[in-house]
Amino acid sequence: MQPLQLSRMRYNGKLPISSLGIALVMLMSLAAITSSCTEQEKASLLKFLTGLSQDGGLAASWRNGTDCCTWEGITCSMDGTVTDVSLASKGLQGYISPTLGSLAGLLRLNLSNNMLSSGLPQELVSSGSIIAIDISFNRLDGELHEMPSSTPVRPLKVLNISSNLFAGQFPSSTWGAMKDLVALNASNNSFTGQLPTHFCTSFPSL
Ligand SMILES: *[C@@H]1O[C@H](CO)[C@@H](O)[C@H](O)[C@H]1NC(C)=O
Ligand SMILES: *[C@@H]1O[C@H](CO)[C@@H](O)[C@H](O)[C@H]1NC(C)=O
Ligand SMILES: *[C@@H]1O[C@H](CO)[C@@H](O)[C@H](O)[C@H]1NC(C)=O
Ligand SMILES: *[C@@H]1O[C@H](CO)[C@@H](O)[C@H](O)[C@H]1NC(C)=O
Ligand SMILES: *[C@@H]1O[C@H](CO)[C@@H](O)[C@H](O)[C@H]1NC(C)=O
Repeated sequence: MQPLQLSRMRYNGKLPISSLGIALVMLMSLAAITSSCTEQEKASLLKFLTGLSQDGGLAASWRNGTDCCTWEGITCSMDGTVTDVSLASKGLQGYISPTLGSLAGLLRLNLSNNMLSSGLPQELVSSGSIIAIDISFNRLDGELHEMPSSTPVRPLKVLNISSNLFAGQFPSSTWGAMKDLVALNASNNSFTGQLPTHFCTSFPSL
């Protein structure tokens, strides 16, 4: 059996190896094309960077000519879609740009433990992709805006806005669109008034 196998290998050797080589080159160039983020995603992230008065050194890797999937704190899926922005405890100051809400494949945003101020952009809470927002331990203020009751169900599962300076009436209609909410921490803020009635029964999974 052995000599037969050997000669078969020798006979078939050339063709499979060269077609394998071509396939490999094609696969590699395909990966090079598809695994980098889009110009639009890059622009959204650079707008966020522009809104920071202290960027904790992010600008060193967040450079426009480079693939944003390689930037500090950014994770992409296999196809190069930005899925995570993880920038907890980076000493960030400034405001959160609403352009983060236009990252169409963003799943998780973690900006906890910074010194970010100003408001939480409605674009993030009402995003059609984000499942977790953690902006706890910052200096964010203002009110959480109500979402129109016509808002379709949002995928948000985790919302941690605790230990900030949010004030005003706690929203009531917003939660109608949050059927998937599993965890909400709004403690240690300055909200006034009462929780909406039936609050806890509005979320099947909370
Ligand atoms: C980044 O580069 C692109 C393409 O070269 C350019 O169109 C865009 O204006 C640049 N963005 C910034 C923020 O410099
Ligand atoms: C955000 O990051 C902090 C620090 O790594 C971590 O403790 C926290 O659990 C993260 N939040 C979420 C929702 O995963
Ligand atoms: C914020 O709350 C979420 C949900 O309870 C939790 O997973 C996360 O760890 C919290 N973040 C921090 C910084 O504790
Ligand atoms: C909510 O967040 C605060 C910190 O901001 C933490 O002390 C508290 O334990 C959290 N609550 C829950 C239920 O996780
Ligand atoms: C309440 O929030 C402030 C400001 O973020 C923070 O310094 C403090 O530790 C928080 N308190 C608790 C109990 O989490």
